[in-house]
Amino acid sequence: MPRAGVAPPPPGTASSAGEFLDSILQSKSELFRASREVLRDSYVPPRLPHRENEIRQVAEVLGPALRGVVPSNLLIYGKIGTGKTAVVAQVRQDMQRRTELAQHLTFISINCGNIDTAYSLLQTIGNTFARTDADRIPTGWALDRVQAAMRRMMDGKGGTILLILDEIDRLVARSGDNVLYTLSQINTELEVARLVLVGISNDLKFTNHLDARVRSRLNEEKILFPPYDAGQLQDILRDRAKEAFHEGIVDPGVVERCAAYAALENGDARRALALLRLAAEMAERDHAKRITPDHVVKAKNRLEQDIIVECVRTLPPHCKVLLYAILQSYERRRNGVLTGEVYDGYKRLAERLGLQPLHARSISNYVSELESLGLIRATIVSRGRGGRTREIIVDVPISETMPALEEDPLIAPVGRPKSRGQMLLTNFDNPGRTGPF
Ligand SMILES: Nc1ncnc2c1ncn2[C@@H]1O[C@H](COP(=O)(O)OP(=O)(O)O)[C@@H](O)[C@H]1O
Ligand SMILES: [Mg+2]
Repeated sequence: MPRAGVAPPPPGTASSAGEFLDSILQSKSELFRASREVLRDSYVPPRLPHRENEIRQVAEVLGPALRGVVPSNLLIYGKIGTGKTAVVAQVRQDMQRRTELAQHLTFISINCGNIDTAYSLLQTIGNTFARTDADRIPTGWALDRVQAAMRRMMDGKGGTILLILDEIDRLVARSGDNVLYTLSQINTELEVARLVLVGISNDLKFTNHLDARVRSRLNEEKILFPPYDAGQLQDILRDRAKEAFHEGIVDPGVVERCAAYAALENGDARRALALLRLAAEMAERDHAKRITPDHVVKAKNRLEQDIIVECVRTLPPHCKVLLYAILQSYERRRNGVLTGEVYDGYKRLAERLGLQPLHARSISNYVSELESLGLIRATIVSRGRGGRTREIIVDVPISETMPALEEDPLIAPVGRPKSRGQMLLTNFDNPGRTGPF
């Protein structure tokens, strides 16, 4: 099947791969006015309808930093797709616009979703201050040394440092809250700089898992983002549709249907936008001039698949290696795999990739994480007198998931050699043909 978003040229217009690719490049979209980035997650729209209150609250907590006052730590929490990341990005942008002349304020944003360990978090924070490669904290130092280097770099910069830790709940699920303890009491050790923590969590019960001291420090200020209802999602989508598409190509009912589906999914704006984007791609694929409610229905069916691939792409490095090891064993056996075996497979792969394998304990946390993401299922099996272990069953289509991992330069060196069928995407559409195109 062609990748979503690329409409194949009309039959008979391309006779070689080069021409085919040229025709993709040259074909202008009849639907999209602007780049389709406007409908992607990474795009921060100029206006965030129905988040005026939250923007004001965040600005009230962090804003005093502009005057040189050290703000309280802030925890923002709410279900996925409720605009947390977007709101914080917008407040950050607005504040930065006003600090061009002031050197006393530094922002660091880190998505903990793709960070494996406390160590790599501290290393990443430290390295945001590195001006040259020689300043960078290498892998392999002891944790104490990394911490000391990070503190030195912070003091070297001075002023107030606003550290935004997005998806902080995932980091804690993986590697515990020690690192948050370290960060939350670092001001007692810093000489001139002051660190302010802005945690963003998709897990509403996140603080229940924290040590009491960490909880009270992180919770100095707390803002809850409620889910959007269907009407609010419609407003968000209409705004975005206006920016993304030419006028008059979105049929009545399209926005309403996307919003209704997403409202059922806990009011997730990300889901609503993904539906609209996919509906447009379905329309392009049909060479349709307008996006219709039928395209939304098709998009909804397609979305489940895409979500898996997207989710796999954003896993942290060791988790990808683990998932790849699970898929490999599962593909060979077509049967449940035991955790011991999985760990051995993971270790072998990690070593082949030149990575220092994580301990079994961390890998066991990752198994739970993959399970909570719905990618695998782990059931406890009794091994007679040998005790109990977990048996892992893969819950995603291997044919989609393995290539998604192999695309990653991290996994590519141990990936399967690409067969012609995999490289020539059109062959999936037309299995009867064997030659290129
Ligand atoms: N009020 C809003 N107006 C416009 N777009 C929004 C709004 N809220 C969320 N979005 C968009 O929805 C998607 C998900 O929002 P995001 O901030 O990533 O959610 P969260 O961080 O809570 O999971 C992003 O593309 C974001 O731009
Ligand atoms: Mg987010």
